[in-house]
Amino acid sequence: MTILSPTALLHELEAVVEQNLDRHLSMAKEWFPHEYVPWSEGRTFDGPLGGQAWTPADSQLPEVARTALIVNLLTEDNLPSYHHQIATLFGRDGAWGTWVHRWTAEEARHGTAIRDYLTVTRAVDPTALERARMVHMSTGYRNAHDEEMLHSLAYVSFQELATRIAHRNTGRATGDPMCEALLARIATDENLHMLFYRNLLGAAFEVAPSQTMRAVADVLADFQMPGNGIEGFGRKSVAIALAGIYDLRQHRDEVVLPVLRQWDIFEVPGLDSDGEAAREQIAAHIDGLELAASRFEEKRDARRARQAARR
Ligand SMILES: [Fe+2]
Ligand SMILES: [Fe+2]
Repeated sequence: MTILSPTALLHELEAVVEQNLDRHLSMAKEWFPHEYVPWSEGRTFDGPLGGQAWTPADSQLPEVARTALIVNLLTEDNLPSYHHQIATLFGRDGAWGTWVHRWTAEEARHGTAIRDYLTVTRAVDPTALERARMVHMSTGYRNAHDEEMLHSLAYVSFQELATRIAHRNTGRATGDPMCEALLARIATDENLHMLFYRNLLGAAFEVAPSQTMRAVADVLADFQMPGNGIEGFGRKSVAIALAGIYDLRQHRDEVVLPVLRQWDIFEVPGLDSDGEAAREQIAAHIDGLELAASRFEEKRDARRARQAARR
């Protein structure tokens, strides 16, 4: 099996990057974070300006919606780490470089918009949020296969879609139409990011089918959301899953399967023995996810029934 080096892959995929960059730029609509923030609802905080400190009574949002907003925002906050990763892998020249900078600029809007919204509406404790940001960003982030081109492309294909679903469902969970509109807008960006990466990896399947299949199998095997370094992430993600904002069922049915379907992985021709083995691993992984998702749903249903009985 010939393994293409990152440099060879950069070269092989350059024309596809150019095409998809043009496609992205023609589809992406300009939008302004400040238009989504109800500034007149804001009040000065305590501290140097002597306003009022935040209290839990300031926020009308359900607790799980606040948890999800914090996770989503802290995830967006780690953008310098993500930028470092893709700039290191993709380089900063040509169409690859244009994408790296454009993508970074779009992502930066997400953190700005969500933070402004949360601060102005007093939706979460701003002091705790700032401390959590410091801890999270001080740790930095790297994905499990950050030196591998195809692994990284596979990872972001799934991750951008996962982020889209998480933002959209978080918006719904807030019950606040303004917040929902903001997160729906951000989710639209994430979807375009997913399309870019998914198309790129789709092209990689034609250039290096076995190597690409291996990358997808490896990435699915240890997939973690980019926010997994957030303090208390385990507890927070269980709450988020119990609320149906992002759970295993959505991960399997709305993220993993649709992306795999677009790559038509069960029809990819020309695989060598490792490529075939990787494809079998992916099939087994999907079955494993089904089992785990069903078990989780059963437990969640039982839990909801218990809670309803108590009420
Ligand atoms: Fe984002
Ligand atoms: Fe994104």
